[in-house]
Amino acid sequence: MTKRMRLASLIGLGGVFLAQMGFAEVPAEALTGDAAAGKKLAGQCRTCHGIDGFAKIPIAPHIGGENPAYIMHQLTAFREGTREHEMMTVVAKGLSDQKIADLAAWYSSHTASSTLPAGKTEDMAPEDCTGCHGVNGIAEVPDAPNLAGETAIYIDTQLKAFRLGKRKHEIMSVIAADLDDARMRELADWYAAMKLTITVAP
Ligand code: HEC
Ligand code: HEC
Repeated sequence: MTKRMRLASLIGLGGVFLAQMGFAEVPAEALTGDAAAGKKLAGQCRTCHGIDGFAKIPIAPHIGGENPAYIMHQLTAFREGTREHEMMTVVAKGLSDQKIADLAAWYSSHTASSTLPAGKTEDMAPEDCTGCHGVNGIAEVPDAPNLAGETAIYIDTQLKAFRLGKRKHEIMSVIAADLDDARMRELADWYAAMKLTITVAP
């Protein structure tokens, strides 16, 4: 199989899984947030995620330029308790659906881009991840998050959470179940080494 075909089949797979998960059923009106309102609300997020979504602390992920549906899904999961974290659970408790949509509109209005660091070439990228998370950690499918420039500790923690069942997802739980600690660390190191840039929309 050529690389392109593999990529296409992985994306196809992602689409089927995501459709099964009901992502396609997110009501259209839930996706329209007000970015200007979200920017104001982002004052409560900035100490950890920055106002532009470039994280300020190693355990927090970069969220600028993520797909709005992904941001909304994660904030809702923290609020409902299907994803847990001592900081985010508290933050998300106070957010209405509208505020979640507004925050998602703000953070997703930015553009994330990434470049490979010196000494790394595309053919060294982990093929079992690139179909969805890209070679450089910029997602190829709308429901997958960017991994570029996240700290290795963050990526590693999430992979372990999927493997343990602390965080659940139809695709990632299956993928993480097959990874041992050493492989998780290697994958985390690959994406953590990418040089992320977040450009704020004018
Ligand atoms: C005190 C620090 C802190 C504050 C304030 C905070 N966060 Fe977080 N956020 C975190 C940490 C830490 C994580 C990673 C949680 C984990 O490990 O599962 C996270 C995760 C997230 C995620 C999941 C991202 C992903 O890639 O899966 C989103 C979305 C998010 N935060 C949005 C927000 C928004 C929006 C606000 C403001 C309303 C906010 N956060 C405020 C620390 C914070
Ligand atoms: C078929 C698509 C697909 C493939 C292949 C895939 N992922 Fe994912 N990944 C996803 C989706 C979708 C999510 C979002 C899960 C959620 O909504 O909680 C995700 C989430 C993640 C997260 C959490 C990121 C965050 O910001 O919280 C990490 C880390 C991750 N994947 C790593 C990997 C690694 C490493 C590989 C390769 C071994 C991989 N993924 C392969 C689709 C994929």
